[in-house]
Amino acid sequence: MHVTHLSLADFRSYARVEVPLDPGVTAFVGPNGQGKTNLVEAVGYLATLGSHRVSSDAPLVRMGADRAVIRAQVRQGERQQLVELELNPGKANRARINRSSQVRPRDVLGIVRTVLFAPEDLALVKGDPGERRRFLDELITSRAPRMAGVRSDYERVLKQRNTLLKTAALARRHGGRSMDLSTLDVWDQHLARVGAELLAQRLDLVAAIQPLSDKAYEQLAPGGGPIGLEYKPSSPGIVGHTREELYEQLMAALAEARKQEIERGVTLVGPHRDDLILKLGQLPAKGYASHGESWSYALALRLASYDLMRAEGNEPVLILDDVFAELDARRRERLAELVAPGEQVLVTAAVDDDVPDVLTQTRYAVSDGTVERL
Ligand SMILES: Nc1ncnc2c1ncn2[C@@H]1O[C@H](COP(=O)(O)OP(=O)(O)OP(=O)(O)O)[C@@H](O)[C@H]1O
Ligand SMILES: [Mg+2]
Repeated sequence: MHVTHLSLADFRSYARVEVPLDPGVTAFVGPNGQGKTNLVEAVGYLATLGSHRVSSDAPLVRMGADRAVIRAQVRQGERQQLVELELNPGKANRARINRSSQVRPRDVLGIVRTVLFAPEDLALVKGDPGERRRFLDELITSRAPRMAGVRSDYERVLKQRNTLLKTAALARRHGGRSMDLSTLDVWDQHLARVGAELLAQRLDLVAAIQPLSDKAYEQLAPGGGPIGLEYKPSSPGIVGHTREELYEQLMAALAEARKQEIERGVTLVGPHRDDLILKLGQLPAKGYASHGESWSYALALRLASYDLMRAEGNEPVLILDDVFAELDARRRERLAELVAPGEQVLVTAAVDDDVPDVLTQTRYAVSDGTVERL
């Protein structure tokens, strides 16, 4: 699929902007702070219902405005669709497809598909486990939009269970009446059921992107690998692959952790405590890999995501935000050759010369809130 037109109203620095887009490669070029990333961030938002830069919507709304609108005309084969999201920080966001009446924002997932690589992705390698869990879960949702429901169910169950554990922990500390633990049993089952579904998807995904990531790393940095992805569950007893096995193992791990959980007042078992260990050669990348290696690693994970989504038949838009300035000339050329044939590739760069020649089909100058085709 590709985006044929992007309109923004009160999004980030833009009061209003209309950007017609072609398939193939488009580069947005302009000095720092002019609004290049803001454009691609909006496209990414339509695909994930989130920003790659901030965790809340408030910064996405132009200072002084109370809502932002992102609208995109999307083409997939012969099919045209118009998606529209209205961001209302502090209130529910609204969504429309083809100007019809409202749908849930979640219903637009899957229309715009993106793989976005940005400097923030260095955190995939260097950051906390939460960054890697989010990477996996966002990719899972991009491939199977119904998983958005499973993710939010899990968040909800976890929150409720934590509230219950916190109450139990407080009661215990203050010598109050001990809690009726049968309620907790019910929440264990909910957590294990939804958790097992999420876990099974993550394990499948890791198996699928492992060889693709290794291949991408080899293409970017020949001889530098191999890279290995190891999923590390919250408890060593969680070793299964099917949902049934994982459910039983999560239940057993919860039973084992129960005493400690009641002491601490928080859920210690489940996919929200897992990590994905990224290995480069024999060593974990985190703490060992150089800056350039970490950068190539994160890029390899995104390129693997791109390969995986392309293989499903509906090609995503590839977004490369400020990527080229960080790479040496050879890696730049390699990356450019890899991505040039994509159905739609959106690139941002502060310096024109940083964009390899094969990626300069269409260029826009971005300056002071205007986006002008060159
Ligand atoms: N909610 C907002 N309201 C108004 N302006 C905003 C808002 N959020 C961000 N900005 C402005 O947008 C600009 C940043 O835009 P953006 O990140 O797209 O820049 P860029 O062109 O990608 O720059 P760089 O080359 O440094 O990456 C900043 O000047 C920032 O102040
Ligand atoms: Mg930028």
